[in-house]
Amino acid sequence: PGSGHDVIRIPDTKFTFDGIFGTFDRASVQRGFQVYKEVCSACHSLRQLSYRHLTGIGLTPSQVAAISSQFQVQDGPNDNGEMFERPARPSDRFRRPFANDAAARAANNGALPPDLSVMVKAREGGADYMHALLVGYEEPPPGVTVMEGMHYNKYFPGHQIAMAPPLNTDGQVTYADGTTATVDQMATDIASFLAWAAEPELEQRRAMGVRMIVFLTILGGLVYAVKRKIWSNLH
Ligand code: HEM
Repeated sequence: PGSGHDVIRIPDTKFTFDGIFGTFDRASVQRGFQVYKEVCSACHSLRQLSYRHLTGIGLTPSQVAAISSQFQVQDGPNDNGEMFERPARPSDRFRRPFANDAAARAANNGALPPDLSVMVKAREGGADYMHALLVGYEEPPPGVTVMEGMHYNKYFPGHQIAMAPPLNTDGQVTYADGTTATVDQMATDIASFLAWAAEPELEQRRAMGVRMIVFLTILGGLVYAVKRKIWSNLH
């Protein structure tokens, strides 16, 4: 750190949603949601998502209702002017781990765990960066001192990050679908889930792009044929 010439190469992870014909792997995105729910949601909010959006990753409305009802959210005021807690409904936003940023910092040594809703869009490298960050913790190279409360990460800009390695043990999550939860697998799955969260309409956008190209190709051919016909009497 400090050299200013320290270009970090983010390794490429193979995602099914890479490329212009790519689509989300629903099973991986669902596993990623499980990782978010069981690990990341202790510190990171996902404010742009409501529980009902989870139908977009292939969950049924009743599965979504079962998930939302596990969380308590604040509501009110009631008729007596009091705030109260109730189980979340599918229409509620994802529950935030902390009431506000000050509380979030207080619980994290002064560092603020950022909202993850559009993190995949916000960071260069996108989902590849997300995966790399989560598997990128290691011992600092000789001569580098890591500041108190910080952790060395190969891929974090500046290399010293306040987040302790959140995925650090194989089998940390017991996947509902029986997939073996290696750290690498969990990192791939949470990166897929957060890529979906940041752009749930990715598949429709790409399908529209392909339809436009087909349409313009046909239209181009027609225009050319009509032009040939209109000018055909000029020899
Ligand atoms: C920062 C992801 C779990 C605390 C971040 C960042 C990401 C991230 C993408 C931003 C990195 C950047 O700025 O480029 C995740 C994921 C998790 C997870 C995917 C679950 C697998 C946790 C947990 C905690 C936590 C459980 C608290 C115990 C923090 C803090 C920061 C942070 C304090 C700010 C770090 C800094 O700016 O130095 N996390 N996180 N994270 N995370 Fe997490």
